[in-house]
Amino acid sequence: MDELIIFENVTYRYLESDVEAVSDIQFSVPKSQWLSIVGRNGSGKSTIGKLMNGLVQPSSGTVYVRSLPTNKESNLREIRLRVGMVFQNPEHQFVATNVRDDIAFGLENQGVQREEMLKQIDFYAELIGIKDLLDREPHRLSGGQKQRVAICGVLVLEPDVLVFDESTSMLDPSGRKEVRKIMELLKSRGITIISITHDMEEAWQADRLLVLERGQIIADNKPIDIFNNQDLLQRAGLQIPFVLAVQKKLIEQGIPLSATHESEDDVLEELWTLHSQT
Ligand SMILES: Nc1ncnc2c1ncn2[C@@H]1O[C@H](COP(=O)(O)OP(=O)(O)OP(=O)(O)O)[C@@H](O)[C@H]1O
Ligand SMILES: [Mg+2]
Repeated sequence: MDELIIFENVTYRYLESDVEAVSDIQFSVPKSQWLSIVGRNGSGKSTIGKLMNGLVQPSSGTVYVRSLPTNKESNLREIRLRVGMVFQNPEHQFVATNVRDDIAFGLENQGVQREEMLKQIDFYAELIGIKDLLDREPHRLSGGQKQRVAICGVLVLEPDVLVFDESTSMLDPSGRKEVRKIMELLKSRGITIISITHDMEEAWQADRLLVLERGQIIADNKPIDIFNNQDLLQRAGLQIPFVLAVQKKLIEQGIPLSATHESEDDVLEELWTLHSQT
């Protein structure tokens, strides 16, 4: 199986609920893909995240992680190591009084030797750009720094997949940018990224978008194709990224711009080129 994560006719209903949070969905995610999941509040995004690392089990159907079904108790330890989760509020993930010990926590649970552990922490702290924070108190850091520490704590366990569930929603624009850059970096290192988000700048960076509506996938496409589909945007309550909105207005005014750019940088470059010609 080339696909890292497979959802096979998955339905999930919370115990105390009479509606299906996720309803007969089917999709798979190959290694090193960045998949963003978007949709209105309550459409089932976080439930998909929880299904991916066995925090909840399908009511029917099967979720596989590296060919291992999540509904088999004996697979769960391995699956939770393979699929790391980063949530909205990093504070909820802090357990120690300094950053180094906090990052060490997961490794200690794995029984990693202290020397090996410190090497591992240094390596990932350097990669994420938080080496100078290792002796600080997690609670005293900025929002973006806190989230990077939380990411580092998951990353040291060397997962194949990182699920970010609204991990940038509590951050200011610069914190968001920091975290988006890290997602980019991790993807370039071969990690599969699942980003659940209401932030369309973040969604635009993905290779692929799943759009959810009431527990069902109503679109599965490249971000730019979804952003160019007005009916779908309206139906799913999605805004397009700011730069695309500006570009659209310019096109409406008769300025000749391409509507098929796949990244913010490409749109900005075309705008700059146009600007320097006028
Ligand atoms: N613990 C729970 N118990 C009962 N119902 C739940 C629970 N968590 C979620 N639900 C319901 O399941 C459905 C999907 O919820 P989910 O949290 O997956 O949506 P979401 O797309 O992540 O929403 P949001 O954008 O608000 O985070 C909703 O109808 C929600 O009310
Ligand atoms: Mg959610």
